[in-house]
Parts: sequence; C-alpha cells; structure tokens
Amino acid sequence: MSKNSSHSRAQWGSHFGFLMAAVGSAIGLGNLWRFPYLVGSYGGAVFVILYLVLLLIIGVPLMLTEITIGQYGKTDPYGSYQRISPRISGFGSMALLCGFLILCYYGTIGGWVTYYSMVYLFSLFGGAGIPEGKAVDIFMEMISRPGIAISWHLVFMLSCIIIVLGGLDKGTERANKVMMPALFIILLVLAFVSMSFKGATAGLDFYLKPDFSKMSLSVAGEALGQVFFSLSLGMGAMLTYGSYLKADQSAKRNSVLIPSFDTMAALLAGFVIFPAVFAVGMEPTSGAGLVFVTLPEVFNKLPAGNLIGFLFFVTVFFAAVSSAISLLEVVVAYFIDQKKTPRKKATLSVGVIAALLGILPALSQGNGPLAKATISSLFGSPEWMSSIRLLNLAAFDLLDYITGRIMLPLGGLALCITGGWIMGKEKLLSIITKDGERPFKLAGVYFFIVKYIAPIAILIVFIQALSGG
Ligand code: PHE
Repeated sequence: MSKNSSHSRAQWGSHFGFLMAAVGSAIGLGNLWRFPYLVGSYGGAVFVILYLVLLLIIGVPLMLTEITIGQYGKTDPYGSYQRISPRISGFGSMALLCGFLILCYYGTIGGWVTYYSMVYLFSLFGGAGIPEGKAVDIFMEMISRPGIAISWHLVFMLSCIIIVLGGLDKGTERANKVMMPALFIILLVLAFVSMSFKGATAGLDFYLKPDFSKMSLSVAGEALGQVFFSLSLGMGAMLTYGSYLKADQSAKRNSVLIPSFDTMAALLAGFVIFPAVFAVGMEPTSGAGLVFVTLPEVFNKLPAGNLIGFLFFVTVFFAAVSSAISLLEVVVAYFIDQKKTPRKKATLSVGVIAALLGILPALSQGNGPLAKATISSLFGSPEWMSSIRLLNLAAFDLLDYITGRIMLPLGGLALCITGGWIMGKEKLLSIITKDGERPFKLAGVYFFIVKYIAPIAILIVFIQALSGG
C-alpha cells in the first residue's frame, strides 16, 4: 500500500488497453440482457429517457469519482478507501463483498449465454438449434437440468479465471482489446439487419417515442439502479481498474468515454432487439426471458436466423466475460495488494470459490416440476433444493436483490460521502485536475452533484425501493 510497493504493481500497457478493459467491465449482461428487458417492461422510450438523464447527471460524475479514488489510492478498494481515511475502509470491504456476490450470480446467466452460443454454433453444422415454438422448452430445460445449468456455469467461470490468471496486461487487457471492438462490429451489423426487416418501424416507435404517462418514481428507481449496474459503479470495479492507471492519464476523459461506449452498446442492443421483435409480431414485455425466449423465436423467423443467433450470443458472451473478469479482478487485487498473495493463487482460490458458490444461484432458477423431477432422479431428494431458497426468494433473486437494490446504491453513497464530504472539494479537484494542470470547466457543477444531488437522489430511490416500490 505504500508508495514503494506501488512501483512493482501492475499497470495497464496502454491507455487504449485501460479504456477497453473499463468499457469491457461496463458493457455486459446489463447492456445486452437487462437494459432491453427493462425497456420492454417499463414502457419503452420513457425508460430510455430517464436512463439517459440519470446517466448523465449521476452516472458520469460518480464514474469520475470512483476512478479518481482508485487512481489516488493506487491499490485495491479496501486499501484505497483506507488511504483516504481509515474510518472509511469499511466502504472498501463492502465493495469487495458486493463484487464477489455479483460474480457468484453473474455466472448463472453467463452459463446460459455460453450454452446458447454453443447450441447456435452447432446449429450451423447441422445441429437442431432452437426449433420454432421450442424456445420456452429449451430455456426451461437449460435452467432446470442441473447437468446443463452447472456445467455451463462452470465453463463460463473457467473462461474468466483463465483470463485473469494471464495477468493484467497479458490477460485482461489483451482479451478486451479483441473482444470489445468485435462486440461493436457485430452489434452494428445486427442492428442494420434488424432495422431492415419489414415492420421494424413499430419497434422503433416503441423504443424511441415516449409515452410520458408511464413515467413514475419506481421507473426512475429502476433506471438509476440500472445506471449503477451498467456502469459497474459502486462495487470497486472502476476503482480497481483506475488504480492501475498511471497518474498522468486523465480520469476525466475516461469518465466520459466509458459511459459513452456503454450507452452506445445498450442503445445498439435495443436497435437489434426491438425492430426484430416487432417485425415478427411478438411482444417486448416478456421480462428476463426476452433475450433467451423471445429472441430465439425471432431468429427463427428470419433468414439466416441461426447465424444471426450465433453472432448475437457470442457477442453477449464476450460482454459477459469481460464484465465478470473485472468482478474477479476486484477481489484478486485485494489479496494481491493487502495479503501479498501471488496472482495465480489469488485468482484460483477466489475464482474457484465463486464458481462453487455460484452453483447455488445456477440451480435456483429451475424450480418447476421438470427441475424437481430431474433433481430427484439425480440426487434422490427433491427437497434439498428448497434449502437454497432463502427468505422465499431463489438464491439468484436474493443475490440480485441484495446487490442491485441495497449494496450498489450504498456503494454509490459511499462514493458521494468519500468524494464530497471526506476528501472535500479542494482535495478531490486537485487530484482530478492534477493541481490545476488540467482544465475542468464544470468542476463546480461536478462537485455540487457529488456532494448533494447524487446522494439525495440515491437515498430517495433506495428508500422507495426498500419500501417495496
Ligand atoms: N456492468 C456490468 C454489466 O452491465 C455488470 C457489472 C456490475 C460488472 C458491477 C462489474 C461490476 O453487465
């Protein structure tokens, strides 16, 4: 944690490498799976507008704050907060725990995506793919059969472990430098294909023409939660990536670039999904199943549908892996920096434990009769399944709720308290501007948001969400 030890600490090989890794962390299932289904469920364009507004006034300033805390701390979240003030090292512990918990359940969906990529890949070589009318069954079978749910979850986690084992520049940076540009190219191609279908304009209307009667505090709350999740804010990922950034690289510029790329990916996902969904006359409101159930049926109705399906799910796979490696890196960085654990040992232990714990949420999604029957045939007792249902929520939903609704907003609040109240205006701004060397026209507005606006907005949404909104 001392200045000396930071010399031997890993750093990004290039600025582009950092940017791609941070963009890789931000762009993930949140953009390609969660954003479209929230848009679909919360009234289309209204959600998009609220999301964009909150992203601009809260997401971007807090991104700058989080990267700055990391760049200043030059170490993992725990050490960075501690360096600012030992009183707030608990913020770091909370971030670590939150990152770890998200990683545990991220692998569930990561596994589904890996499975779908494979199904579509094999369909290009004569496999059945996802035949018409069968998307629901295939989805149910995947989440209900422990063999499928567990093994693909493990394959996904293994891919992440291998990349993080490779180290910061040879693993994470190199992988993202390939995956992120590929992701944008594929999304762009798919968006053009989707918008060229007959009947696509109904989808564009839904996506772009707001119906303001659908606006509410609860929709705003959902949008703010999505801003945090999508930008990987509030749980130490951007802090950790920022800590590998050299002091002379501008956090300010990155704090605009990362959300811009992230938003482009989310918006593009909408341009891929909604025109296609409407063109084949389906509904966009199927919630979490939109990507896994509705889309495959859409692909079935399209020319070269299997190829489109394969490209789509490979893209989602890239996005998910690049986010999961940032979650793993947060906890790995803690062990490397605080406990002096070698990277290999830290990555293997954290990765394997997260993968094993992740089996619970991976299994918890299949609770239908098919799941029970399969589980009883494999393990004898269908009842043990209920032991992974806590508080009547499936392990997956529980983790999603605790992290998304409680820990991420609290993590955001921690950023506001640290930047706005503990570091204070002078210190925070002098780090961002490098003692006035770099111009920062909006410094006053930025600080006012961090100190007052963002924490108040987060508190309102937080209390509203806890009271069941
Ligand atoms: N931002 C990622 C996504 O959109 C999720 C994530 C959250 C990754 C927090 C890292 C940290 O999917």
